[in-house]
Amino acid sequence: MMKKGMWWMGLLGLILIIAACGSGSSGTEESGGEAGEQQSGETKESSGNEEAAAGNSSEADLEIFSWWTGAGEEAGLNALIDLFQEKHPDITVENAAVAGGAGTNAKAVLATRMQGNDPPSTFQVHAGAELNESWVAADKMEPLNDFYEEEGLMDKFPQELIDMVSQNRNIYSVPVNIHRGNVIFYNMSVFEEHGLEPPKTFEEFMEVADELQAAGVTPLALGDKETWPATQIFENILLGTLGPEDYQALWDGDIAFDDERVVEAAETFKQMLGYVNEDHASRNWQDSAQLVSEGKAAMINMGDWAKGYFSNDLEMEVNEDFGYFTFPETEGNFMVISDTFGLPSGVENEDQVKEFLALLGSVEGQDTFNPLKGSIPARVDADESNYDEYGTDTIEDFREASLAPSLAHGSAASEGYLTKANQAVNIFVTQGDTNRLLQSLENARSAQ
Ligand code: GAL
Repeated sequence: MMKKGMWWMGLLGLILIIAACGSGSSGTEESGGEAGEQQSGETKESSGNEEAAAGNSSEADLEIFSWWTGAGEEAGLNALIDLFQEKHPDITVENAAVAGGAGTNAKAVLATRMQGNDPPSTFQVHAGAELNESWVAADKMEPLNDFYEEEGLMDKFPQELIDMVSQNRNIYSVPVNIHRGNVIFYNMSVFEEHGLEPPKTFEEFMEVADELQAAGVTPLALGDKETWPATQIFENILLGTLGPEDYQALWDGDIAFDDERVVEAAETFKQMLGYVNEDHASRNWQDSAQLVSEGKAAMINMGDWAKGYFSNDLEMEVNEDFGYFTFPETEGNFMVISDTFGLPSGVENEDQVKEFLALLGSVEGQDTFNPLKGSIPARVDADESNYDEYGTDTIEDFREASLAPSLAHGSAASEGYLTKANQAVNIFVTQGDTNRLLQSLENARSAQ
């Protein structure tokens, strides 16, 4: 085991390197493809962004840090903040969001601030390794056990989820949602026009994709200007190929990357990448989702924040304009992505932070945020009448499915590992060398 200080410097270094050279996009440059300028180009940067980058503390009582800016990202948070302000008009709030899907830029800004002992009042962090192996391990978070008791939260979240935000019996954050990663959204008229059915297996997926390609339609939209959407596809293929237990065993180090099923998964990944739009490297996730809404591409694998984007920003009707199906061969499994917020050590207005956490952990808070975000409530007792057919289907699946933690969204492995995995995937997308991909993933693990 590395000493905490060394480990911490290593993590910070990695995050900064990746932020500097990884995505090619900056906090103010969220949009990629041509179509993106119109929708996701409105990268409403909050005033907090520059301050955050400079490491200055906020003037507001409550500074809320996330990467939810722009189309498809910010509506849920804004509604939650409005609700909070209605209830607490005396508390000044600063929305200090830093643009960039999956926290590409925000995580680097956050790392600098945390290292400089200038934490935001509260910040978005994924349940699992991203919380536990970064901030909890570095003693940067306060336990919330008493808060959970006071707010009566102990039995309001699935135990598995509480476990993901706990370390040594201390609970360190409050989940606001559950996003699903193993879902494919598709343009229903394109499928109808070509007489296609949602594929359930990889073989069926390739058949559908061949037909679409022959008809001149891009089968699968990809926007990997930031690398994570490609990593997301690969983790879903791994889940489909290995099943939930061995998928977990892979991240736990109990299965090697030269396992023949992992090699097979990499081959499937390569095959799928043969069906994506040529300009994938210049698009972000919203821009690639637009290819589907415009009928230029038929399908996209994207966490269901894309559902929020389709419904609320692009005003598409679920099960009319766009449909959804479980990522091939992952039926009965649920790739979990949970956004949570905690209490960093050393913040000034602890009581006000707790007021905000109480709201985002409440039924009212979750039912305000999630229908706009595309996610389902993390609470087990939310009011399902607030959710459309996609939401209620997903709530039901979540109850019954085996849960798998997402690598691309920080739950399955440490931030340092994810950074290297994203790099390896990025190289793979251009070079297609499966041996090199798997070797890099194995090497990254040995270096942990
Ligand atoms: C995920 C996050 C989601 C969504 C997405 C795209 O990591 O959990 O809430 O924001 O990134 O940015």
